[in-house]
Amino acid sequence: MATLTIDGRSVTADTEQTILEAARAAGMSDIPTLCWYPKLPIVGNCRICLVSVEGQGKLLPACATKVADGMVVHTESHAAVENRKGVLRLLLERYPGDHLRNGGRIGPRNEFEQYVVRYGVVPTAVELRDLPLRHGDERPGDPMIRHDMSTCILCTRCVRACEDIQVVGVLDVGQRGEHTEIIVGADGDPDKAGCTWCGECVRVCPTGAIFEVMPRERFAPEKIRHPERTVRSVCPYCGVGCQVDLHVANQTVARVTSPDIELNTPNQGSTCVKGRFGYDFPQHHDRLTKPLIRKGWVKDGGRWVWRGRTGANRRGGPWQTIEGEGQRPKPAGPPRAVGKAVRDLPLLERVDLDIRDRVATPSSWYEPFREATWDEAMELVAHELSRLKRERGGNALACFSSAKCSNEENYLMMRMFRAALGTNNIDHCTRLCHSTSVAAMQRALNTSAASGSMREVEHAADVIFIAGANTTESHPVFGAAIKRAHERGATLIVADPRKTELAGRADIHLQMQPGTDVALFNGMLNHIIAEGLENRRFIADRMHDFDKLRDSVRSITPEVAAKITGVPADRIREAAEIYAKGPNTSTLWAMGLTQHANGTDLVTSLLNLMLSCGMIGRWGAAMMPIRGQNNVQGASDVGAIPFVYTDYRSVKDPEIRAEYARAWKVPAESLSLKEGLMVTEIVKEESGVRGMYIMGENPIISDPDIAHAEHWFQELEFLTVQDLFLTETARYADVVLPGSSFAEKTGTFVNTERRIQVAHAAVPTPGSARGDLDILIELSNRLGLDTPFTSAPDVMREIAQVTPSWRGVTYERLEGAGLQYPVSTPESPGTSFLFDDRFPTADGRGIFVPVEYAPPVELPDDEYPFVMNTGRQLYHWHTGTMTRRASGLDQREPTPIVEVHPDDARQLGVQDGDLVRLTSRRNTMVSSCRLSDRVARGQVFVPFHFREAAANLLTNPVLDPYAKMAELKCCAVRLEPAHVAVSD
Ligand code: SF4
Ligand code: SF4
Ligand code: FES
Repeated sequence: MATLTIDGRSVTADTEQTILEAARAAGMSDIPTLCWYPKLPIVGNCRICLVSVEGQGKLLPACATKVADGMVVHTESHAAVENRKGVLRLLLERYPGDHLRNGGRIGPRNEFEQYVVRYGVVPTAVELRDLPLRHGDERPGDPMIRHDMSTCILCTRCVRACEDIQVVGVLDVGQRGEHTEIIVGADGDPDKAGCTWCGECVRVCPTGAIFEVMPRERFAPEKIRHPERTVRSVCPYCGVGCQVDLHVANQTVARVTSPDIELNTPNQGSTCVKGRFGYDFPQHHDRLTKPLIRKGWVKDGGRWVWRGRTGANRRGGPWQTIEGEGQRPKPAGPPRAVGKAVRDLPLLERVDLDIRDRVATPSSWYEPFREATWDEAMELVAHELSRLKRERGGNALACFSSAKCSNEENYLMMRMFRAALGTNNIDHCTRLCHSTSVAAMQRALNTSAASGSMREVEHAADVIFIAGANTTESHPVFGAAIKRAHERGATLIVADPRKTELAGRADIHLQMQPGTDVALFNGMLNHIIAEGLENRRFIADRMHDFDKLRDSVRSITPEVAAKITGVPADRIREAAEIYAKGPNTSTLWAMGLTQHANGTDLVTSLLNLMLSCGMIGRWGAAMMPIRGQNNVQGASDVGAIPFVYTDYRSVKDPEIRAEYARAWKVPAESLSLKEGLMVTEIVKEESGVRGMYIMGENPIISDPDIAHAEHWFQELEFLTVQDLFLTETARYADVVLPGSSFAEKTGTFVNTERRIQVAHAAVPTPGSARGDLDILIELSNRLGLDTPFTSAPDVMREIAQVTPSWRGVTYERLEGAGLQYPVSTPESPGTSFLFDDRFPTADGRGIFVPVEYAPPVELPDDEYPFVMNTGRQLYHWHTGTMTRRASGLDQREPTPIVEVHPDDARQLGVQDGDLVRLTSRRNTMVSSCRLSDRVARGQVFVPFHFREAAANLLTNPVLDPYAKMAELKCCAVRLEPAHVAVSD
């Protein structure tokens, strides 16, 4: 440690710290900086931070000079101030600063100009200067980010942020001397340069030379610079749970920024393109602002009765089914090159080929409905739910809760269905996400969540093993952290049939045939045991049944695994040894592993590998199922699943039931002891379900067999949908209740690392749309369940009361970084990693569950020679309800595509953008093809965001026996050039 004096104040600092760091740590943050930025590599080139140090003959850069014992620093010495003025004058020579002349009445517009004003430097009028203003790549027509390089001061923060935080490297410094400028790739095309539109450059730029387009197009500069308020929220998309600041102007979200990079948030200042630019969907003209009731419902003698059409047409409408839309021709992929914004394109001759706004709710979808008052709508819903319960029993009802809604909303939904309607038929999209992970983790370790934190993967893992996760597209901020870990020296191993970005940069890419993961992991384990690399101490102290596991993998040598997976045996050996030797290996997986009809076994074999090597329970050895939606973890934690109440406490246990009955003030017998049905079981004729309530989900696109699901929903007796838009599912509803978007609600959300975070409402709901929490409170009360809450914190108090591992959670404690549960007491600081000495099983030990390789249910053959894989794209989210109505995101990926390997395309005689027909054993659809070597030959990839070419028309609805997950990642298809009649 060193003790120094800064501006007369004694400061103690680590000798590795710079003068700037020491001053900032001591709360003296006044030293001006331009090229320096927290967490970026120090370049020390702008010279504005120079300070005087006694005994030194020259000024020293505070950002690049280490402290020393006895050092005496003057940050505002005459020499330092004169130097700063000189630096600013020099920078102003190329800067359009006329508005700062004549006393600067307009005032400073950015960080750089604040220094100009602070040091009283007056810029020369632009017309009197010798040097022209600077220029550089402008990104004309870009829907989200553009440049005005006349205000660039060449601090290079953007270049370093792109390279070192996002690890992308799109921006660079081009030319030399007075011509030096910031360039985008080799030719100004961000697409070709690999830009992901994360906006990191926007965030760090001190002058606004790199700026967001949308706020400037919609609001006056003053409104952007001085928002009415800035409210902390949580991104509504993926499970990383990035915190975001919503800037409000005219009662709308005008802009989204991320919290300070130095704050302790999961995203450490970053967001991805969805978080930063995907915020305008709540203002889309499709937004529902009044409740809708299907025409045909009338009130007769005080009772609601159906007087509309009966039979198969009861729920129809003037629209095409998803199956029908799948057959229509599609516009080719988007024009993406610079200067061609989709919205600036000339109108196409054929309207059905115009990609603009074709996702908007067609006006004909509203025809079967009439607008209603809230009283009518709520009365009808309560009436029909009560009638169905009375006439057919509670189990004739079911609900899909929502992984996009808050913990409080999910809690109220499950409370209402359990306590007022007497059924456990409550589920949500976790079924189609990580239900197999939960089943496997429960079986082996009696746990349902990640053991560790994203931070430990970034900073402490020696080896990162990723199976079936396209992290840089599906969880981009975590993906960037993994890339940073790789840059610092962690070894990256990726097991994936696709050559994803991380697979491309991995030290080892295990590119196996889809669905052969069990053989791969068992082959690795075989080699680990053969080499004596298993962690014998961990196995002896912490696990059961290793002998059984060893026997089960004895015959799966790397050679045998190589034959099944297509991965060379030597590579399997190499990966196995690196994995086992760690010393700290983190194990990550996502839907590439889970969305299979044997997903529970796939995850189990990965857990066997992980536990045999003892790679859990240490900082850096994390077990991380990467969660999909932003609250899929929380929705499960608070009991929106069919088998458990909050904290995964069984609905079958009478004592637990009694506890909840007391809390909810209902007779214990009114709560069912029978486990409910899961999503994939509910949407079946034999389920007996006749009435449904769906909050914020769109199963007609996400169900594994869309054609069947669409038919099934039409046959229901009563369907309520609570959502923002008239979705593909909502168009079949009897009542549609307009709910609230993320920006309009206060509530808590749990991210992929068990972190409970609070989001605050920034803007009011539009028209007479209502908060989701409000709707559920009123409906619960109408159904006779005492629900005395008025706010989300009220609800959280009850959740904490009935949830042992959340008992110490309060809204006050969640402000800031949030808390990672367990948080069992008001004093507990939360738990960043679990299982350092025991698992939550009866005896504290885990169990090895041997699993054998079984081929995927459907293999390619002569008739269906391709393997189809489905998943997400960077710019879209799930069924596209939100992202396809976010203008910037939509412009990046406006049309459905199928990725085909260029060699396969050549053989089929199709080119980039051509229409292809995909046919599986279940259905057929047309999409336009994108040539890509990210897929291996013989494989195709179809994103599942587009109703016009819905991937799940083709997927195989066969279910995992434990978790009832469908086989979404692997089905056999045929591919052929599509000849669709243009007049179709
Ligand atoms: S664009 Fe902004 S961040 Fe990049 S060098 Fe110029 S001023 Fe610095
Ligand atoms: S990484 Fe996920 S949570 Fe973060 S901004 Fe992107 S979508 Fe949102
Ligand atoms: S901030 Fe120190 S040299 Fe630029």
